[in-house]
Amino acid sequence: MAKQLEDSFHRKFYYLRLSVTDVCNFKCTYCLPDGYHPTEKKKPSFLTLDEIQRVASAFAECGTSKIRITGGEPSLRRDFTDIIKTVAEIPGINKVATTTNGYRMAKHVHEWRDAGLTHINVSVDSLDPKMFYQITGENMFHQVMDGIDAAFDAGFEQVKINTVLLKDLNSQELPKFLEWIKTRPIQLRFIELMQTGEMDSLFQNHHLSGVSIRNHLIANGWLLKIKGSNDGPAQVFCHPDYMGEIGLIMPYEKNFCQSCNRLRISAKGKLHLCLFGEQGVELRDLLASDDQKESLIARIQAGLGEKAVSHFLDEGKTGMTPNLASIGG
Ligand code: GTP
Ligand code: 5AD
Ligand code: SF4
Repeated sequence: MAKQLEDSFHRKFYYLRLSVTDVCNFKCTYCLPDGYHPTEKKKPSFLTLDEIQRVASAFAECGTSKIRITGGEPSLRRDFTDIIKTVAEIPGINKVATTTNGYRMAKHVHEWRDAGLTHINVSVDSLDPKMFYQITGENMFHQVMDGIDAAFDAGFEQVKINTVLLKDLNSQELPKFLEWIKTRPIQLRFIELMQTGEMDSLFQNHHLSGVSIRNHLIANGWLLKIKGSNDGPAQVFCHPDYMGEIGLIMPYEKNFCQSCNRLRISAKGKLHLCLFGEQGVELRDLLASDDQKESLIARIQAGLGEKAVSHFLDEGKTGMTPNLASIGG
């Protein structure tokens, strides 16, 4: 076993977010408002199944136990089920998660579960079909809802929902969301809008801090759950009358990065140390054959030494990342 991944600030990394495509079929206003368009003329070449296997195995040798398959929309890959299976079979990986827009869930979530998927996060920005269309550019509300039901039917004990908080768009829907999770084992996470390189006026017009939601929850008897050492950045609240939970992801809060526990691989094989503001470490030339594993691990370990203490968003910095679909969220 190689050395456990740890950065210069004593943060340990057991969690890898592995992007398998930049392509998405939704047009979320905060991410790909004009839809996905390739940046190069030729067909983009995303990591192959073999390359995915090699990079995931190298991380597993360094102690990674959880891999989240992201995108773009990961389920648009024709070999998505094989990707799940390949990752799930790697010794040491005991959590295989994905984050999806839900488009293919109703039809395929049973198959993903059988292939070894253990956790699923779904984006749902509104419970009103019209607002859902306004935010995502797609009339898929009912299909996504059916997909969530299918996930419970397939045996997932909890489904996490991501809702990007948008002032004057979905921000009035808190009561509706609370009603929805009263009888469902859903962890609904409100994510504060993050300003990416391609978005400016949307951020100025619609950014809303999660603090107003936090205050509402606390005033209404919701209790902050104590974090486990391996938990992500969400502050999670629970309530005795609700089966579901509420998570708040507030990247503009001071010390948000203190508990950072994840690294990222882009769909073209670069290691990204943070969601924002760096070029990434090229790994793809070391994914061509199994006998490159030692060099691959050495490059990952050396790259990690460069991870900064924070994304500095709370100090007014804007990320260089064009949109989160290009880095896997
Ligand atoms: P769990 O693995 O279930 O804890 O979920 P997660 O929050 O890591 O995964 P998910 O893909 O559902 O993430 C939801 C969103 O949270 C991301 O797309 C980002 O918007 C935000 N997020 C996740 N990780 C980070 C991070 O490291 N930094 C910042 N600023 N935001 C993040
Ligand atoms: N700010 C906050 N969250 C974002 N996501 C994508 N772009 C942004 C952004 N600019 C989130 C979506 C989705 C996840 C994959 O990324 O909510 O759930
Ligand atoms: Fe697609 Fe996700 Fe970006 Fe929406 S947030 S456009 S679903 S990648």
